[in-house]
Amino acid sequence: MPPLWAVVTVTSLVFLRTFSITQDQALEEAWRGWKGVHAKEYLEEEEAFRRAVWEKNMQKIKIHNLEASLGKHSYQLAMNHLGDLTDEEFNQLLNGFHPDPVKRRGGNLAFFQKSASLKTPKEVDWRKKGYVTPVKNQGHCGACWAFSATGALEGLLVNKTGKLVSLSEQNLIDCSGKLGNHGCHGGYIRRAFEYVRDNGGINSEGAYPYLEKEGFSCHYNPQDRAANCTSVVAVQRGSEEDLEQAVATIGPVSVAVDAHNFPFHFYKSGVFSTIFCSDSVNHAMLAVGYGTSPEDGKQYWILKNSWSEKWGEQGYMRLVKGADNHCGVASQASYPTM
Ligand SMILES: *[C@@H]1O[C@H](CO)[C@@H](O)[C@H](O)[C@H]1NC(C)=O
Ligand SMILES: *[C@@H]1O[C@H](CO)[C@@H](O)[C@H](O)[C@H]1NC(C)=O
Repeated sequence: MPPLWAVVTVTSLVFLRTFSITQDQALEEAWRGWKGVHAKEYLEEEEAFRRAVWEKNMQKIKIHNLEASLGKHSYQLAMNHLGDLTDEEFNQLLNGFHPDPVKRRGGNLAFFQKSASLKTPKEVDWRKKGYVTPVKNQGHCGACWAFSATGALEGLLVNKTGKLVSLSEQNLIDCSGKLGNHGCHGGYIRRAFEYVRDNGGINSEGAYPYLEKEGFSCHYNPQDRAANCTSVVAVQRGSEEDLEQAVATIGPVSVAVDAHNFPFHFYKSGVFSTIFCSDSVNHAMLAVGYGTSPEDGKQYWILKNSWSEKWGEQGYMRLVKGADNHCGVASQASYPTM
């Protein structure tokens, strides 16, 4: 992948260099502080552009939070380590999920069977049961699909063995290409499970560490097998009731959401919902539970992201639940079984 600044066209650089003269000087210190905290370094010709992008993001965050303080939103935004990315770059780099067609040769998809009589608990949080590894960071690689898949497999492994072991996204990136996954350029969660199923295993993060890059040859080692799965189960498309039962009875479930919107990128805390969300999904996450907000009674899903602990609520989002499949959260849910 070319360095970020290469994406910037010459015209926009010229434009922004002119623009930079009008930069808000009061923000100078904040900009320096932000660069320091996140160890950002730019080429001289790039800095003015990045600063302008960052300032624009700061401004939009400020406006949102002002509106939130007036009761217009149920969540806050905050500047984070991704604050120098334009919306287009965000979408390109971080939203690497492809929705899977329902019928596909070799997929052998099973469907989650909802029980009419089952009463689900009011709250579920698999983190408290030791089913969830610490939040990871995909970095500048669109492999959210691999992070979501390892998350669900890690939960399954705890269920089967009682041990929490971090599993290898790089293993999935390097080895599941023949199933149609594209490494840092996106992939399918279900095909990641299918790879593990057909391959007879996946290595641990320790044995097969994350490199934030694609293009390496597969070096899965069966001797280091850390987990397995034997089948892939899909949750009824769009049904939050089915997803609730699956999350309550199975463990963490892989989901995908529409993350192509500004508030999502800078989400900090609270129960998320936005008019900018559609149900056409593009970013994979892991549903690790659900609950009800004590402040405003809003129901939410607890979603683990892979943008480090600096994003959201220590790396997690609470997304509004029971509001017409908001952001498509139940559109592409699935999990592995053994
Ligand atoms: C594993 O999951 C099944 C349901 O899928 C459940 O009945 C069982 O209690 C779980 N085992 C552990 C150790 O959590
Ligand atoms: C994975 O499956 C194989 C059989 O296909 C079995 O021998 C092995 O013990 C399993 N490994 C784990 C970690 O469950």
